[in-house]
Amino acid sequence: MQQPIAILDSGVGGLTVAREVMRQLPHEKIVYFGDTARAPYGPRSPEEVTLFTREIVDYLAQFSPKMIIIACNTSTAFALEDIRSRVKIPVVGVIKPGARAAIGHTETGCVGVIGTEGTIRSGAYEQALRELSPAIQIISEACPSFVPLVENGNFRSSETYLTITQSIGHLRRYPMDSLILGCTHYPFLAEMIGEVMGSNIKLISSANETAREARAILHESGMLAPGYVVPVHQFISSGEPRMFKVIAQEWLGEQLELTPIVWQELQRI
Ligand code: DGL
Repeated sequence: MQQPIAILDSGVGGLTVAREVMRQLPHEKIVYFGDTARAPYGPRSPEEVTLFTREIVDYLAQFSPKMIIIACNTSTAFALEDIRSRVKIPVVGVIKPGARAAIGHTETGCVGVIGTEGTIRSGAYEQALRELSPAIQIISEACPSFVPLVENGNFRSSETYLTITQSIGHLRRYPMDSLILGCTHYPFLAEMIGEVMGSNIKLISSANETAREARAILHESGMLAPGYVVPVHQFISSGEPRMFKVIAQEWLGEQLELTPIVWQELQRI
């Protein structure tokens, strides 16, 4: 099936999932939407995040996607079930895959979760983790200052290091061996988060598990693209495209042919 997979996020964060989808499903075409004009989603209300997610899904319908990946934890926390009830195609979120990966890894039974205010407030990770392992100890922390750093391409500065230390340095006193990067923007900061947390704590990103879930669904339903397809991906950002393009190219690698980013005046949004 040669329809694309639609991947959406508030900005560049979902590219961390897109890269993994490209790696695991090299013949699938991706249409990526980053809502950079309205990022960050973290401080917004559940109603607003749900509305924005609906608008993006409606916009992406013109590409006739065969699957939607909500590559945003905040949207997944607030809008996954809503979107599933509105469309007929499979909709994959990022929270359950991340929780599965953490439970699969932890030996101490203590897992950390960092995410946006919205994601942490929603309790979605606690719920997903406890469904898998009721006795798990969970330490959650909202990190509102991380997403702006990433959207500005500020991945490795001393300012970034300081912000990370101040936000999550105190988590080191817990016996956690796994830290869920519960925001798809955070893998961009993984190097520095790893330096702050130390090598005993494995950083868990949901990208890998999410792509695996997408692949399993497409495989089981006979919707995988044929092996001869060499896809040309499409990237759309609702805001100023320059920084989006710089970050996308750095993250996805030069070898990937990026179609020029189309900046749409999304009046409906
Ligand atoms: N990347 C998103 C997430 O995973 C959203 C971050 C934001 O816009 O605050 O939650």
